[in-house]
Amino acid sequence: VPEIGCLSIIVLGASGDLAKKKTFPALFHLYCQGFLPPNEVHIFGYARTKISDDELRNRIRGYLVSERSASPSKDVSKFLQLIKYVSGSYDAAEGFQMLDKEISKHETSKNSLEGSSRRLFYLALPPSVYPSVCRMIRRYCMNKSNLGGWTRIVVEKPFGRDLGSAEELSSQIGELFDEPQIYRIDHYLGKELVQNLLVLRFANRFFLPLWNRDNIDNVQIVFREDFGTEGRGGYFDEYGIIRDIIQNHLLQVLCLVAMEKPVSLKPEHIRDEKVKVLQSVLPIKDEEVVLGQYEGYRDDPTVPDHSNTPTFATVILRIHNERWEGVPFILKAGKALNSRKAEIRVQFKDVPGKKQGRNEFVIRLQPSEAMYMKLMVKQPGLEMSTVQSELDLSYRQRYQSVTIPEAYERLILDTIRGDQQHFVRRDELKAAWEIFTPLLHRIDNGEMKPIPYQAGSRGPAEADELLEKAGYVQTHGY
Ligand code: BG6
Repeated sequence: VPEIGCLSIIVLGASGDLAKKKTFPALFHLYCQGFLPPNEVHIFGYARTKISDDELRNRIRGYLVSERSASPSKDVSKFLQLIKYVSGSYDAAEGFQMLDKEISKHETSKNSLEGSSRRLFYLALPPSVYPSVCRMIRRYCMNKSNLGGWTRIVVEKPFGRDLGSAEELSSQIGELFDEPQIYRIDHYLGKELVQNLLVLRFANRFFLPLWNRDNIDNVQIVFREDFGTEGRGGYFDEYGIIRDIIQNHLLQVLCLVAMEKPVSLKPEHIRDEKVKVLQSVLPIKDEEVVLGQYEGYRDDPTVPDHSNTPTFATVILRIHNERWEGVPFILKAGKALNSRKAEIRVQFKDVPGKKQGRNEFVIRLQPSEAMYMKLMVKQPGLEMSTVQSELDLSYRQRYQSVTIPEAYERLILDTIRGDQQHFVRRDELKAAWEIFTPLLHRIDNGEMKPIPYQAGSRGPAEADELLEKAGYVQTHGY
């Protein structure tokens, strides 16, 4: 049953990068598709900067229209009119009291709907201010309607720096909000082909009997970017590639590739299975890690001259259970590499007998979503020889009339609908940090050093050697 009543979406950190580049454009796309009806919805921006409503609108305007949605400027203006701005600090009552007043004003002005009131707080902020902002929301801005409704908060990674700090953050927020009110975004969970993983695995007879250690040799989950940390060096240097990409985005993908079939498609059942995978991961061995740092990274004035922060890492995870014992899961991520790509490569064991090209199933998350299987066929023609070819499902060709939604758009809609399936639960987060914390501490202490690599290259050659040792065989064609 669709909920009725006022919906207030409050973007905290409204003038920051994340809000401008991701949150507001996602809201705009939802608005254009009719998910944010103007007679119910009001959007509030909140930040410290003292600017007017119009100044905020002007700052956002340029980010709204992308090639994906060539919406007419009339839509842009109407959408911007839904946004009001309130300025205030992140730890003082005054701003939040003012914010509450503005939200309440809107709620009563829309009383023709006579429904509940829904308040969604999107924290596009650094995690250092999460506890104080959550406290302020809890104290001053909760939904007060006696007709029902809810208050929810959306938080972004990084959720802490290691197990200890993440747990501390979780308990501070946990004292103020219940788990069903907290939406921890990992935007990889909003990507089309990540959302497709469960369907693919559990609705296809092709895969069911093959998806295990008897048939699969190794699994690779790869993230590459062909640009460096330009403009974000200061942030990035505190975290590094493992905290920025591997511990969250790639690990979430690993969970969906490796988990058992959930009891049902209910969010809790799915998340229960993901936690079990994480808890089955064995401690990482130093010899199964290669770290890299691209040359030129330290030229960024916001990066310390002697930074030990990796901008590249290949890490092998091993899952200790009946399905995956002995199968390496290779997680690889890097900045300033030779291409921009995120993909999952599932490589099958060799067919007995004469050595042939390997069967490999590739799921390309981006760019140009696609799935393809590398398989052996007879070389067409008079001769009897074999060649590696592909069965290919390219989304752009196959689903020409469908616009694939942006990850943030889908996830924000889920937060409004109250669906937590694609959000990270507290115990999941804890288990994810448990896997990487010992390695991260060794890097932080300077006990492990990144190998320099050339910007625009494949990363350190040692990473390719590690892959080969893990059993990965380079396939051909495509
Ligand atoms: C973010 C990281 O979470 O994901 C960035 O902080 C990275 O460093 C980005 O560039 C990549 O997202 P996408 O969707 O472009 O692959």
